[in-house]
Amino acid sequence: MYSEKVMDHFEHPRNVGEIENASGVGTVGNAKCGDIMRMYLDIDDKGVINECKFKTFGCGAAVATSSMATELVKGKTVQEALEVTNKAVMEALDGLPPVKVHCSLLAEEAIHAALWDYAEKKHIKIEGLEKPKTDISEEEEEEEY
Ligand code: FES
Repeated sequence: MYSEKVMDHFEHPRNVGEIENASGVGTVGNAKCGDIMRMYLDIDDKGVINECKFKTFGCGAAVATSSMATELVKGKTVQEALEVTNKAVMEALDGLPPVKVHCSLLAEEAIHAALWDYAEKKHIKIEGLEKPKTDISEEEEEEEY
């Protein structure tokens, strides 16, 4: 039921971990299943994403989509990274079962939340980026878990 690419990224996830002093960090929760994803971005002076890492409490599909998403945003500009939608990630993975589509949203939303954090720190506005709705603050997370 899962494509070979999904299985590959699930079994050998790329870019798992943390980035110290990241340019932007985004944490989001999935309202549907309660799973959590944190994304770290390292962005250089030209606005290019040099490094992207993630950590998740999500399921296998969330691991695979996040792994693919980090591969896709690396080397892209902030603006280009906005085009890495969950649809684009799913296509790159040769599809996901319909019940798992919501899992792929975690990666997209976490990237957006990390970009939002970067923009706030830099006092810049990223065209087309909306404030993340499901961003979970550190305090809330500590209280709940
Ligand atoms: Fe929660 Fe997939 S079931 S991320």
